Amino acid sequence: MLSDTIPNLLLNDERALPLAGLGVYKITGERDMHTAVHAALESGIRLFDTASFYKNEDILGDALSDSGVPRSELYLTTKVWNTAQRLGDIRGSAERSLDRLRTDYLDLYLIHWPVPGCFPQTWKEMVKLKEEGLVRSIGVSNFTIRNLETLAMMSDIVPAVNQIECHLLNHQKELVHYCQQHGIIIQAYAPLARGIYNDRAILKQIGSHYGKTAAQVGLRWLVQQQISVIPKSVRPERIRENADIFDFNLTESEMDSLDQLDENFRAASIPDDMIGVQNF
Ligand SMILES: NC(=O)c1ccc[n+]([C@@H]2O[C@H](COP(=O)([O-])OP(=O)(O)OC[C@H]3O[C@@H](n4cnc5c(N)ncnc54)[C@H](OP(=O)(O)O)[C@@H]3O)[C@@H](O)[C@H]2O)c1
Repeated sequence: MLSDTIPNLLLNDERALPLAGLGVYKITGERDMHTAVHAALESGIRLFDTASFYKNEDILGDALSDSGVPRSELYLTTKVWNTAQRLGDIRGSAERSLDRLRTDYLDLYLIHWPVPGCFPQTWKEMVKLKEEGLVRSIGVSNFTIRNLETLAMMSDIVPAVNQIECHLLNHQKELVHYCQQHGIIIQAYAPLARGIYNDRAILKQIGSHYGKTAAQVGLRWLVQQQISVIPKSVRPERIRENADIFDFNLTESEMDSLDQLDENFRAASIPDDMIGVQNF
């Protein structure tokens, strides 16, 4: 059973995905991880997003075990990295992630990047992991429409989720529309654009109507479009703030004015081995 304070979205495999979670990229200290996990759980957050690449699955697993919250109430996402795809080591990578996270299943397993020449085979392996129950839902990350069309030609299993950079300064309208048309839930990474839009006057102005911060307005703009968000913070007050976005509604005209902020700005970097491979 997931939290009753954070709403869920329904995935195309009939499972629930929380609309908000905690991203833990760059949280590498045990103490920071404990603080962040504790604050998130207290705020009703149950979804935790990591990756083998982040090298923190073990400290996340420890913090979650120490919390005493039953595994059945948690939602764990991790991702298979590019090297494992090139080695064809999908099962081994998943099993190592499970060990580090101290669990016997993942709620969501994602292909971190569409490594050319590898990702179709990776997808076949992901489907097997799902059939065997090691992972409950499978999805992708950083996939373009072309990548998704390649998968559609070779497999009947449609990714449940595409986790992409998506925020007020980078709407990815075409990709979001394609995914929504094909039953693929969008999960927004870097949903705060790493804090860059917080001083925009329009956000402060809209937020002041509701007693909310610019960050909360930016997150609300996403969840109101049925986009799941995984903001990262190590600060308890910000973690609480980022979870407290379900008691107000932006009006149509506020949504429209926020729609004008798109400037195709990329906050997260692209790994060296993916630069130039495709247009982002
Ligand atoms: N699939 C992928 O390729 C991919 C790529 C990047 C990220 N991700 C996932 O997405 C998660 C989130 O993305 P992100 O960490 O890149 O960026 P983000 O969540 O947009 O921004 C995080 C930054 O914003 C600050 N922050 C957090 N809450 C704030 C608030 N309420 N007000 C002001 N500043 C605030 C944080 O600082 P403090 O920590 O000091 O509060 C941190 O510096 C990651 O942790 C990771 O799980 C996935």
